[in-house]
Amino acid sequence: MAIPAGSQLAFASYEYSMDPLVNANPQEFDPMRSYRKRMAGPDQWDLHKAGMAHRENLAFGYGSQACPGRRFAVAERKVIMACLLFEFELKFTEGRMRPKTQHLNQFCFTDQSMTLMMKQL
Ligand code: HEM
Repeated sequence: MAIPAGSQLAFASYEYSMDPLVNANPQEFDPMRSYRKRMAGPDQWDLHKAGMAHRENLAFGYGSQACPGRRFAVAERKVIMACLLFEFELKFTEGRMRPKTQHLNQFCFTDQSMTLMMKQL
């Protein structure tokens, strides 16, 4: 198969992680999903971590060009989330619910028109 010059290639990581053969009940909010996978056996302990580049977790790439900032990014994200949850009360505006996740090529993000109410505690 020939790939035309200038084509953009990307791994469909969202579709992969939402495949029920990869993650059972992918639509379910299950914060312990990766923990249970790690507990499946000693060879799994270091896998299924957010910053671990692995064939089943390609968010940060894989192999010799995997993202070198991935552990920093994961730690930073945890600190930001902890500060937001600890210091603010967060609420959707009247009548609004959690926005649908949007997709563009290999990227996913939240509805950019959505507003969130934040009150410092
Ligand atoms: C959530 C945040 C981040 C995500 C999702 C992310 C994801 C990625 C991905 C997918 C790649 C490409 C890997 C490949 O080509 O196979 C990459 C490369 C890279 N990332 Fe990140 N990254 C993040 C944060 C960071 C941070 C915080 C730094 C630096 C402090 C960083 C530095 C780099 C560098 C230097 C490369 C190029 C590596 C190379 O080509 O050898 N990234 N990243």
